[in-house]
Amino acid sequence: MFRGQKLTAREFLGFARRFGPPEPHVVDQFHHPEYADILILSDVVRDGKPAGLADAGTYFHTDYSYLEMPARATMLYSIQVPRVGGDTLFANQYAAYDGLPDSLKKKIENLVALHHYGNRDDLEETSRTAASLLTEEQKRRLQWVRHPVARRHPVTGARRSMPSRAARSASRGCPKTRQSTCSTR
Ligand SMILES: [Fe+2]
Repeated sequence: MFRGQKLTAREFLGFARRFGPPEPHVVDQFHHPEYADILILSDVVRDGKPAGLADAGTYFHTDYSYLEMPARATMLYSIQVPRVGGDTLFANQYAAYDGLPDSLKKKIENLVALHHYGNRDDLEETSRTAASLLTEEQKRRLQWVRHPVARRHPVTGARRSMPSRAARSASRGCPKTRQSTCSTR
């Protein structure tokens, strides 16, 4: 965390590019007007229209797990935050995996989870944790994708669990169960 930064959108994007090529978010109506690689997150409503994507961060998730290649990293640049309660929380999934009993590690070794955009547990549009509705065009761009429940880091090989309430697990012994439930039981 770097406190007290004053960056333009261009500088922020330039910093992010040092870590890899940016991937624009599927919800393109909230892209930054000049830099589509930046997604605006906001719960502000102006003239009846949302200023940004409001449902980001209402539940634990792995960014872009609904893509074949999930995000390697995400950077957040806070412009306006509440005095209390605006924290971004991180859950160490390597520690979560390491803390599992060996029997469970073995059980989930070959499990694969199906991922799709949105909180599939909550389809109520007025709920705080329901994901933004996708346009038909956005839906066409997204398919269900499969990821191992215990995923290996591409460089270190370390295992981590890959939770997302947006995901439902399937195959090999854990049908009809949320991935997050399956990987922590
Ligand atoms: Fe996220």
